[in-house]
Amino acid sequence: MHSDSDGPDLRKEWLQQRTHGALSRFHDTTPLIYRKRIDVPKEVIDWVAGWGSSSLFLTGHIGVGKTHTAWETCRLWLKAFYGPERPWNGAATIYTYRSTALFDALRPDGPDEVRRTLIKTLQDADLVFVDDLAAPKVTEWTQERLFEIFDERYINQRPVIITSDVLPADLGPVTGPRVASRLGEMCRDSVVLLEGEDRRRGEAA
Ligand SMILES: Nc1ncnc2c1ncn2[C@@H]1O[C@H](COP(=O)(O)OP(=O)(O)O)[C@@H](O)[C@H]1O
Ligand SMILES: [Mg+2]
Repeated sequence: MHSDSDGPDLRKEWLQQRTHGALSRFHDTTPLIYRKRIDVPKEVIDWVAGWGSSSLFLTGHIGVGKTHTAWETCRLWLKAFYGPERPWNGAATIYTYRSTALFDALRPDGPDEVRRTLIKTLQDADLVFVDDLAAPKVTEWTQERLFEIFDERYINQRPVIITSDVLPADLGPVTGPRVASRLGEMCRDSVVLLEGEDRRRGEAA
């Protein structure tokens, strides 16, 4: 039989097991070069600590470390999700997409049902990370699907992490003005500019 003090200890152990499982699954889906632990800016630490309503926008020139910082941020977020100060409310759902792959998946030529399921998944997930949002050009049709995803997350204050080499205000031509405007508000207090040299320069391509 457990003594009174077993309650919190058992809960702690149970949470530790869940955290470990979630982090290990996330590690397995993380691209190899982004598995290495890196330091992240203080604004990112603060974003994870004060998590809830706001989203995070990582910007800067090519090669400064936006994508790596975003993967590390997802990992820190996941750890915080299972933290003892947060009430347990089920396992974390986190989806990471390169914008090119996301736009491809949302195109009109695939099966409608698959696309609807993806949109619903991305509307409801606890965290969505979209990498390199400014890169490709998208059609108006795809912009509409993006709007469905981002508007639902916006009205329910569900966070997204975006990396982009342009600011939210300049995303209009890519995402359409309505998504750009919502992203501007969602990330208002958490646009983080990464500075420095292109870290890839000098390395083998
Ligand atoms: N803080 C960091 N410390 C060490 N290496 C880093 C750091 N941030 C990024 N890198 C490395 O620099 C390279 C470019 O980073 P990446 O995040 O892909 O850049 P970006 O997305 O801004 O183009 C990658 O090899 C990455 O692993
Ligand atoms: Mg990148």
